[in-house]
Amino acid sequence: MTSLKKNILKLREKRALVEKGGGDAAIAKQEAKGKMTARNRILAILDKGSFQEYDMFVEHGARNFGMDKKVLPGDGVITGTGTIDGKPVGIFAQDFTVEGGSLGLKHARKITKIMDHALKMKMPIIGINDSGGARIQEGVDALAGYGEIFYRNTIASGVIPQISVILGPCAGGAVYSPALTDFVFVVEKISNMFITGPSVIKTVIGEDISMEDLGGARVHAEITGNAHFYSLSETECFEQIKKLISFLPWSNTEKATAQKPAKPKSKTSIDSIIPSDPKQPYDVRDVIRAIVDDSDFFEVQELFAANIVIGFGRMGGETVGFVANQPMVLAGVLDCDSSDKAARFIRFCDSFNIPIVTLEDMPGYLPGVDQEHAGVIRHGAKVLYAYSEATVPKITVVLRKAYGGGYIAMNSRHLGADFVFAWPSAEIAVMGPEGAANIIFRKEIMEAEDPEAMRKIKVQEYVDKFANPYVAASNGFIDAVIEPKETREILLHTLEISKNKEELRPGKKHGLPPF
Ligand code: HXC
Repeated sequence: MTSLKKNILKLREKRALVEKGGGDAAIAKQEAKGKMTARNRILAILDKGSFQEYDMFVEHGARNFGMDKKVLPGDGVITGTGTIDGKPVGIFAQDFTVEGGSLGLKHARKITKIMDHALKMKMPIIGINDSGGARIQEGVDALAGYGEIFYRNTIASGVIPQISVILGPCAGGAVYSPALTDFVFVVEKISNMFITGPSVIKTVIGEDISMEDLGGARVHAEITGNAHFYSLSETECFEQIKKLISFLPWSNTEKATAQKPAKPKSKTSIDSIIPSDPKQPYDVRDVIRAIVDDSDFFEVQELFAANIVIGFGRMGGETVGFVANQPMVLAGVLDCDSSDKAARFIRFCDSFNIPIVTLEDMPGYLPGVDQEHAGVIRHGAKVLYAYSEATVPKITVVLRKAYGGGYIAMNSRHLGADFVFAWPSAEIAVMGPEGAANIIFRKEIMEAEDPEAMRKIKVQEYVDKFANPYVAASNGFIDAVIEPKETREILLHTLEISKNKEELRPGKKHGLPPF
């Protein structure tokens, strides 16, 4: 055998050893939990045969607590590049079978190297988290590693899409890398995210709680809003990742790849979605599906703050971000959580050249002590800031109610909307007719012989005067009152003419959004 052949065989042996990760027993333990191995996860996400691995032979540098005798294949993380739908991505996956996927300095440096590549080469980065957190034996070296990752997450923010996939524990400070990225995916019974685990909570405050109830997939998809996509299996999660990627540009200097335009296939007639009684709710997603290509709407954060709907669709083949009040939940009001949800999404779209279509039907901000004390002023202001700051094409359609602060906040002309349309069912006013009549006609109502009858007359008077789109249209705040069935065509037209939109802002280091 030639020495080259011998060396090739040796390389293959070395590779095979690393590819076995923590070994058969650890892999069996991983699979018994319904989890795939780190390597199989990467292969399942990327195009077949496209994965190129780097730093396979990196060794950890820990010397204390017996670590000098431990071999950790790949140092517990697999990193590389590959393609999704033929376009390049950077990817890393922590390997729980190797020392619990714990993060030491070399492990972190493998991750930061691939993040640096992604940033320089302008491609999305996908990080799969499955780790016991900072490698305890490495002490401050492990903390340094996390810090270097957080720094890069921040620098890359708004330049390349960053995606985090939580497929196991993500504990302690480790949670802050996903929290700094754009989209977080979780899977039922597999994902766990928390700052302090159940045992610490038990010790410090004496409370008993399971890992699932503390920070399981559902908790983050529904309550905290830390997760953007929830699924029941890893396979379903990988399909979601690929679908999300299909809507995104590769960086902030590009536009998302256009697809073949397709007509909506939704059977619901757009004219019949809004009920005749203005107090009746309906599902605003039916309106979105009636106007987007192929009726294909990919919702983001579906389970969190459901009083606002956000997500991606295509119009004329191009990606559009939708922000829509959901009358079916809390009448579509803006509150702390829905404001955060909308504002962050608007900023994502603005960073990545994705036009925003806003569908409005809401009675304003949610009143109440709970909301005031939770900071609805600060949270609500984020929506105003995000819309005003955004320079991508911004189009609003007022479907029904546009009351008070909500009218202004939901991408009104006054915050810089490029086009504002209203359906004939629109009601644009400072507040709902009942509330308004009770305040401005209080005296007449109180002094009337029949106060109830007078209240009805006065409410109707207010409805006739303001609860329509024509007062706003007479001021040019609405560009056109349109029939529902004209919506898709007018959106396609205005998106087309906005393609070369340029809007400059005064130079500044950065603004101060109400974080
Ligand atoms: C070193 C670790 C480790 C860690 C797990 N392992 N976490 N080794 N450092 N952080 C090792 C275990 O010793 C074990 O090794 C193997 O990984 C598998 O772990 P198990 O405990 O057997 O797995 P499981 O029962 O599934 O429990 C998983 C777990 C638990 C819930 C994640 O391992 C755990 O609680 N780990 C510690 C979590 C934590 O508190 N991390 C530090 C957070 S602080 P053997 O050899 O037995 O197979 C932090 C600070 C970052 O991260 C700050 C950044 C700002």
